[in-house]
Amino acid sequence: MNIKEEISKLISEAVKSLKIDTDGLSVAFSNRPELCEYQCNFAMMCAKRLNENPLNLAEKIVKNIKKNENFEFLAVKPGFINVKVTNKKLSDYCNEISNDKNLGIEQVKNPRLVFFDYGGANVAKELHVGHLRSPIVGEALKRVHLVRGDRVLSDMHLGDYGLQMGLTVLQLKEDGFLNEFFEKNEKTQKKCEKNAKNCEKNIDFSKISLKNVTLDVLNDEYPKASKKKDIDENFKKLADEVTLLIQRKVEPYYTIYQKIRQLSVLEILKNYKLLNCEFDYTFGESDAQSYIDDTINIFVEKKLARESEGALVVDVAREGEHIPIAKKSEDEPQRYKNPMPPAIIKKYNGGDLYATTDIATVVMRNEKDVPDEIVYVTDKRQETHFEQVFRCCKLAGISPEKQKLIHISFGTMNGKDGKPFKTRSGEVVRLKDVVGLLIDKASEKLAANGIKGDEELARKIGVGAMKFGDLSNTIEKDYVFDIEKFLSFDGKTGPYIQYTIARINSILLKAGCETTRSKDFMVDIKTNEEKNIALAILKLNSAYQISYDSYSLNSLCLATFELASAFSTFYNNYKILSEKDEKRRKEMLAICMLVKSCLEKALWTLGIDSVEKM
Ligand code: ARG
Repeated sequence: MNIKEEISKLISEAVKSLKIDTDGLSVAFSNRPELCEYQCNFAMMCAKRLNENPLNLAEKIVKNIKKNENFEFLAVKPGFINVKVTNKKLSDYCNEISNDKNLGIEQVKNPRLVFFDYGGANVAKELHVGHLRSPIVGEALKRVHLVRGDRVLSDMHLGDYGLQMGLTVLQLKEDGFLNEFFEKNEKTQKKCEKNAKNCEKNIDFSKISLKNVTLDVLNDEYPKASKKKDIDENFKKLADEVTLLIQRKVEPYYTIYQKIRQLSVLEILKNYKLLNCEFDYTFGESDAQSYIDDTINIFVEKKLARESEGALVVDVAREGEHIPIAKKSEDEPQRYKNPMPPAIIKKYNGGDLYATTDIATVVMRNEKDVPDEIVYVTDKRQETHFEQVFRCCKLAGISPEKQKLIHISFGTMNGKDGKPFKTRSGEVVRLKDVVGLLIDKASEKLAANGIKGDEELARKIGVGAMKFGDLSNTIEKDYVFDIEKFLSFDGKTGPYIQYTIARINSILLKAGCETTRSKDFMVDIKTNEEKNIALAILKLNSAYQISYDSYSLNSLCLATFELASAFSTFYNNYKILSEKDEKRRKEMLAICMLVKSCLEKALWTLGIDSVEKM
C-alpha cells in the first residue's frame, strides 16, 4: 500500500476529468501536520497558466475527487489541497507493513546490480581519521540500495600499487630490514654468473620471512620515506624505480611487496570490521594489473592517447574546459582556465598510475560482474581524478553507455577548531585511536547507567554515535567531530535511537511478549501520539527513497530520529504496561513492536548496531 500514490491517483483522476493536463502534479507530506497529513499544490502551480483563481481551481478539483472513505480533501487558501488520512487507513498501513519483510520500504521496479567502491585504505599506510568517512558513507549507501531491492557488490579497492609501495620497500631496504632477501638474491646471481647452467632461475623468496617488519615498523617507515622523497631527488627517483620493479613483478621486490600487503590487509580488515563494514572483495589496484596492457592498447588503437613529455595522456577536456591562458613570457609555465587536465595513463618511466589502475579496474569489473552502476566514495580532492577516469572509460567504450559511473565525494571531518581533526601535538589521528576513544567514552556513559565491563556494547554505542553524527550531515560538507555531542543519550544522536529500541525491548520483556510475532497484535490508532508514529513511519519509508535517489543519508537519519522521538512522546503520555483494557494494551504493544522493527532496520541501513539494553 502506497498512501501517497493512492492520493495522487485520486487527485489526478479529478484533474483529468476537468480536462487539465496533470503534468507536474505531486503530493507531499504536509508542512502543517496539525491541519492535515498530506498536501498538494498543483492548483497553485497551474492556476496562472489556466488563467484561474487558485482557490477556485483547488475547489473544483476537490469537488471532482471520487468519494472515498480513507481520505478527506479540503481546498484551502491560497489554493492548497489539504489531505487528511483517517486513523483506520493509517492503522491498516501499519498492520500491512508489520507483516511485510521490507516493512513497507518501497522496492525498486527494476532491480540493478550496483557496485560500491569504498574504504580505499592504503597498504603500508596506517588508517587514520581521514579514512573514516568513506567506509561510513559507503557502507550506508550500499545498504540503502540493498534495502530498496537492488543487488549490491562491494570492493574496498586497496591502494596497493602506487609510489607508497616503492617508498616503503626502499626505506625498509635502506634501514636493513630486507638484508636476507637481497643477500640471497646477490649470492644466486653471482652463482649464475659463474655457472649459467646451474643457475636457479626462480628463487623461492616466499620462504624468507619479513621477521622484524611489524605494522608498527611500517607505520614508521612510510612517513619517513614520504618526507625524504620531498627533499631528496635521488631517493624519489629510486622509489619510482622500485615501484616499477614491483609493478613488473621483479624479485625479490615483488615477494616483499606481497608480504607487506598481506600484513597490512589483515589489520585493515580488522579495523573495518570495528566499523561494521564488510566487503565482497578485498581487491586492490594491483588486481587490475593483468588488464593494464590491453587497456592501454584500447586507447592507443582508438587513437585516444598521445605522448606528452614521455608520458601517455588522454585528452578528456570538452569544449570550454582546459583553455590555455596566454603566457606573459616564454619561460612562464602554461596555465589553464577551467582546467580539466588530460588524464595521464602511463608515466614517463613506463610506470602505471592511479588513473591507469582505476580504468583497468573498470575493465575487470565489467568482465567479472558487469554492474549497472559503479559508485565510488572518496573525499572531495579526488573529484577531477574520477571525472577523468569516467570520461576515459566512456571515450574508449570501456564502460557501456548505459552503465552509470558516479563519484560521491565527501568533505573533511574537522576538529572543534574547524581544521582537519588532529592530535593535540598536531599529528594525524589513527583510526584505531578514534574507535578506542569512542569506546572509552561510551563505557563511561554506560557505567553511569550501571552497566560495566561490556566492551562490545560500548563499541556498538560509540561507533554508532560517530556514524550517526557523521551521516546526519550533508555528505559533501565538512563537519565537526564532536564526540560529546555525538554520544549524548538525548537529541539527534545514535545513542538516542539505540536507547529508544532498548526501552521498547524492556517494555516487551515486561509485557511477556518479547518473542511474540507482531502478527498476533494489531495496531488500532486511537490517539494523536499513535497517529504521529504512523506518520513518522511513512516519512521514514519515503526517506529511504530520497536517500536512494540522491545518494544522501541525512534525511534518513532525521526521519529515524523523528520516529524515535514520536515514540518517546507516546511512551511518556500513556501507561502501556498498566493498561487495564487487554485489547487496548495489545494495540499499544503492537505499536511498540512495529516501531522497534522500523528503528532497527533504519539503524542497520545506516550501518549501526541496535542494542538489547543500555
Ligand atoms: N586509496 C585511495 C585513497 O586513499 C582511495 C581509493 C578509492 N577508489 C578508487 N577506485 N580509486 O585515496
